[in-house]
Amino acid sequence: MTSKIAKSEFTLPQRLQKVQPTLIRRIFERALPDSINFGLGEPDLPTPQFIREEAARVTLEEQNGYTSHAGLPALRQTIAEQYPHLELGLANVCVTVGSQEAMTAAFFAILERGDEVLIPNPSFPAYINCVNLADGVPVFYKMPAEKDFGFDIDEFKSKITGKTKAVVLISPSNPTGKILTESDLKAIAAALDGTGIYIVSDEIYSDLYFGEKPRSVSEFYDRTLIVSGLSKSLSMTGWRMGWLASSQEEVVRATLTVHGFLTVCTSTITQKASLLGWTKEAEKAKADAREIYKRRGEFLIKQLDEELGLRGTSPEGAFYTMVDVRELGDDLEIAEKFLTHRVITVPGVAFGEEAKGFLRVSFCNNEEKIAEGISRMKSALS
Ligand SMILES: Cc1ncc(COP(=O)(O)O)c(C=O)c1O
Repeated sequence: MTSKIAKSEFTLPQRLQKVQPTLIRRIFERALPDSINFGLGEPDLPTPQFIREEAARVTLEEQNGYTSHAGLPALRQTIAEQYPHLELGLANVCVTVGSQEAMTAAFFAILERGDEVLIPNPSFPAYINCVNLADGVPVFYKMPAEKDFGFDIDEFKSKITGKTKAVVLISPSNPTGKILTESDLKAIAAALDGTGIYIVSDEIYSDLYFGEKPRSVSEFYDRTLIVSGLSKSLSMTGWRMGWLASSQEEVVRATLTVHGFLTVCTSTITQKASLLGWTKEAEKAKADAREIYKRRGEFLIKQLDEELGLRGTSPEGAFYTMVDVRELGDDLEIAEKFLTHRVITVPGVAFGEEAKGFLRVSFCNNEEKIAEGISRMKSALS
């Protein structure tokens, strides 16, 4: 006999109650048709043709059943080789549905309810939501606006408590385009030495740099969980190719458990095509993308200065600059004004209080579109 259950309204589980749609999404939803999109966080360059062709070939010629949860061994091997200093084996790599899944699954793997996770302010808004989903507590360390959003070791150390379980690093950064220097990374490693705290190192933009190649904190700190993927370096955002790589085998195993139940595995077609993601041709495509974004970034900074009299932070990597609009007023209002003139920018506050008074402007647009966007911004301000 079935017992009668009182009908009640659906209530969102506590875990989900703290998760909010991001301000970025809310802005995109209100954009006018034919807007110039400086809000984009994804490459506009085409996915390299040889990767598309390989995906088409394996789709037509091969049976594409599940792979193991952790992903194709040959792919894991290739990913492991990207971090020679760690001497990783197959058990140290889990292929995930984009780096986003690697990050969320890793938090589920390491956090107990109430564990604190240090998150940069400003940074990619997903971190807060991922930590909340896994019942952790986000705690913020400032990347001070007055230091051009550079790293501040004293501020960082002041946020470490007995409850800190993990810290998030993002370099090159979304939204600031800044890169953590070798001395920043060594200082972080020294501050965490002996604490048992994990570093979740978001290296999704590590192939997009305009000066020296960024270093990975995993060179200096053992308990590092590298989160990365091919979305940004090979314009493969929709392919959902990411990974977690770490010398911490138990954490990889725990992450794999979460990943297996969430997804089974990332698309087999994506995995097979991604085997070509580190060939000579692929490395050339990454280098070409770096050149293109570097040129666009310089063009954008120059246009902002010459046409609008605004200063953007000098991008070191990724494809973003933070534009100082404090003299013009509130960042939300300025972004709103631009939106009505068919230009999408993201108010800094979407990434944290420290970026209030700034706009994140991305250069995932060619020079012609950048110039058109700047001209629309100019009329919005006149
Ligand atoms: C900082 C950062 N990390 C992670 C991601 C997620 O990328 P994906 O899941 O496509 O690898 C993004 C995407 O915008 C990002 O900006």
